[in-house]
Amino acid sequence: MYRTTEDSRIQISELMKPSHANFGGKIHGGYILSLMDNIAFACASKHSRSYCVTASVNKVNFLNPIEVGELVTMKASVNYVGKSSMVVGIRVESENIRTGKVKHCNSSYFTMVAIGEDGKTVTVPGLILTNKLAAKRFIKSIIRKESDSKRSEDLENLYKNLDQHLEQLKNHRVKINFK
Ligand SMILES: CC(C)(COP(=O)(O)OP(=O)(O)OC[C@H]1O[C@@H](n2cnc3c(N)ncnc32)[C@H](O)[C@@H]1OP(=O)(O)O)[C@@H](O)C(=O)NCCC(=O)NCCS
Repeated sequence: MYRTTEDSRIQISELMKPSHANFGGKIHGGYILSLMDNIAFACASKHSRSYCVTASVNKVNFLNPIEVGELVTMKASVNYVGKSSMVVGIRVESENIRTGKVKHCNSSYFTMVAIGEDGKTVTVPGLILTNKLAAKRFIKSIIRKESDSKRSEDLENLYKNLDQHLEQLKNHRVKINFK
């Protein structure tokens, strides 16, 4: 079975309340992450018609602060499907209500995995790519997955050969004082 990216596309808007601000008057990053996780869950569950769990997030750069009173809009769509996993792309924008000025706050990719009633992973529907943008997003997800697994491999090797890498610490603000 296949579904289009439009079938599960979701958009939410929420006005940022003072109760979600930090001491500097900006909205907490953790609150935004929580909203993003909710929309990723909704989007992946809609595509898969299963409840989903968040397997990983790649990656969140907060490009611009969000102020109290701004209208935050999040747009989510399934960018990629594997067997039981889906990558949900989320774009976050905030709008100043008075001026109408819109800021891009971040774009992130949540990997969600569909879980069946027995608690095991389930195969999700494939994706029908109805335009070039959807194809580009799918290919970008493949590239991101490949570079993530290469990075994990490199880090694993680093731990195995730590002594060889200690030299590069010379240029950093650390003192080596192993006990
Ligand atoms: C995500 C989870 C279900 C994967 O379970 P698993 O036993 O490793 O299952 P599998 O090895 O069969 O992997 C299932 C799919 O998840 C993907 N996956 C697993 N871990 C992943 C990770 N860290 N990042 C991205 N994808 C991941 C696999 O690539 C696989 O994809 P595919 O089916 O499309 O090929 C399991 O690790 C889990 O339940 N994690 C906790 C999730 C959670 O509680 N999230 C909320 C955090 S508080």
